[in-house]
Amino acid sequence: MSVVLSITNIGIRFATNDATAPPPAVDGVTIQVNRGEIFGIVGESGSGKSTLANAVMGLLPANAAVTGSIRVNGREVVGLSEDELRRIRGAEVSMIFQDASASLDPTWPVGDQIAETVRAHRTISRRDAKARAIELMTEVGISDAASRYGSVPHRFSGGMRQRIVIAAALANNPGLLIADEPTTALDVTIQAQVLQLIDRLRREHGTTVVLITHDLGVVSQVCDRVAVMHGGRLLEVASTRDLFARPSHPYTRALLAANPAGAPRRSRLPVIPAEWSVESLQQSERLRTGQLPPVEEATHD
Ligand SMILES: Nc1ncnc2c1ncn2[C@@H]1O[C@H](COP(=O)(O)OP(=O)(O)O)[C@@H](O)[C@H]1O
Ligand SMILES: [Mg+2]
Repeated sequence: MSVVLSITNIGIRFATNDATAPPPAVDGVTIQVNRGEIFGIVGESGSGKSTLANAVMGLLPANAAVTGSIRVNGREVVGLSEDELRRIRGAEVSMIFQDASASLDPTWPVGDQIAETVRAHRTISRRDAKARAIELMTEVGISDAASRYGSVPHRFSGGMRQRIVIAAALANNPGLLIADEPTTALDVTIQAQVLQLIDRLRREHGTTVVLITHDLGVVSQVCDRVAVMHGGRLLEVASTRDLFARPSHPYTRALLAANPAGAPRRSRLPVIPAEWSVESLQQSERLRTGQLPPVEEATHD
């Protein structure tokens, strides 16, 4: 099995003016993502998911310091120049950002925005770029794409805008797609449709997908494997089936126990009370005595 993304012992700190340095946003994370899989990264808000994704894209702000290694298709990206990164971004690895529809320009026809992305990485005529954009819009399920090419984003529903963002991300057939909370803003039905689209793209194009979410329901719907993050650290990596059936980390067990149905469609990660931090969990009386909340068996294979 070939490894598309190899993250090794990554640490990311943000410099601040505070007298006491904040803890690292990402701390010693090691993950390998295989070609063609949908790999979930799940964790509550602030656990470091977006920071990790931005590091893969080389898009961290200047106050971020990165240690460790990130290889995309075998090539180290930590320390690459902006020029080199730009060549990889969009072409080899592409990202759908959290709050993606805000990344569309509201004043500009959506088709042109996709065509522009196509032209960013290839020498291609405007006419061919337009044809490719229409093809991409059709591919992501926008019916009558040719006639909707010229519409501005607000003419589309939230779900359709998300499809347009996905089309732009796919413009140059990236082997690796990182989707950061791609369905968070959508209602349940539309969310399921967008996840099905991502799954279909993976099957038809062999695209490798890293799907970032705080929602266990999303994980259960499409991910092959999943990494659980908390406080910048990686707690466990497991197949989705094993994670729900036999979570190995107490934090994961607590998450699942807080969602007794295992992973109902809309099981947002609960915010774990502070006294349930990983450290305290590990030390807690409950843990030593094996009295963690009961873990429900998964019922949703
Ligand atoms: N630009 C930044 N400067 C300082 N701290 C940041 C910055 N971006 C993120 N952080 C901090 O890094 C941690 C992880 O944030 P983030 O990666 O956005 O988490 P998630 O995506 O899991 O919600 C948080 O504590 C957040 O405050
Ligand atoms: Mg985030």
